[in-house]
Amino acid sequence: MTDYEEFIAKVKRKTGIDLSLYKEAQMKRRMTSLYEKRGFKSFYEFYKGIEKDHDLLDEFLDRMTINVSEFYRNGKRWEVLQNKIFPRLLQEKKRLKIWSAACSTGEEPYTLAMVLSNYVPLSQISILATDLDETAINNAKMGVYHERSLAEVPHAIKTKYFDHKDIYYSVKNEIKRTVTFKKHNLLKDTYDTNFDLIVCRNVMIYFTEEAKDQIYQNFSNSLHSGGVLFVGSTEQIFNPSKYSFDIEDTFFYKKM
Ligand SMILES: C[S@@+](CC[C@H](N)C(=O)[O-])C[C@H]1O[C@@H](n2cnc3c(N)ncnc32)[C@H](O)[C@@H]1O
Repeated sequence: MTDYEEFIAKVKRKTGIDLSLYKEAQMKRRMTSLYEKRGFKSFYEFYKGIEKDHDLLDEFLDRMTINVSEFYRNGKRWEVLQNKIFPRLLQEKKRLKIWSAACSTGEEPYTLAMVLSNYVPLSQISILATDLDETAINNAKMGVYHERSLAEVPHAIKTKYFDHKDIYYSVKNEIKRTVTFKKHNLLKDTYDTNFDLIVCRNVMIYFTEEAKDQIYQNFSNSLHSGGVLFVGSTEQIFNPSKYSFDIEDTFFYKKM
């Protein structure tokens, strides 16, 4: 076994996270630069450090989960969601079952609530939001953001759903109440079913082809017929029919 393979095995035993399902070159590079910065010379030494030092474990987790996010990320796609996808889904029922998977620090599920509030009262909206990273989830629950995360937020929404002090914006409680955050590992945990909409963006890029294949299949199984998977803007699915998906619009897949 190589130094990295041994590291993968130990990390899996300790945290349940399987690094072998993430693209190797990319992950190795990220981890090597972290351990070198901390003065270690190999994955073997790095793991010994992680075992002894909880802060280093946190730093490792923080480095492997890339938490970058923003409200209304790739704004045009959210317009399609608002003007095409939601109206169709809402023809069938008013209470949609929605999951924001790999939601990071909460910008995505809160954006979902803001967009859906054009059609449905907030009291009737409930969104499940999950991520592997507990620190990100805790920040999501606090709901306070630097103004740079709000660059794409329409002005009317900014004044309606945020309070701000200087350059920090907090999401109002009426929006926060619509989202339930939970820890969930897409590579390991079971998936809930019967969703109308699953949003999973900007995480598939980190996974191996084998892992992606399994996750798309799981998402398909979790959607009911007519339900939609909304993916990130570099994450087109090349063979959607394999997972019983039709293309409804660019980056939106409808379960057959
Ligand atoms: C770049 S962020 C994407 C955030 C948001 N979806 C967006 O598009 O703005 C990637 C997120 O995926 C999460 N992640 C990485 N591996 C995961 C896994 N196996 N299961 C669930 N979430 C994971 C990370 O913790 C991180 O918060």
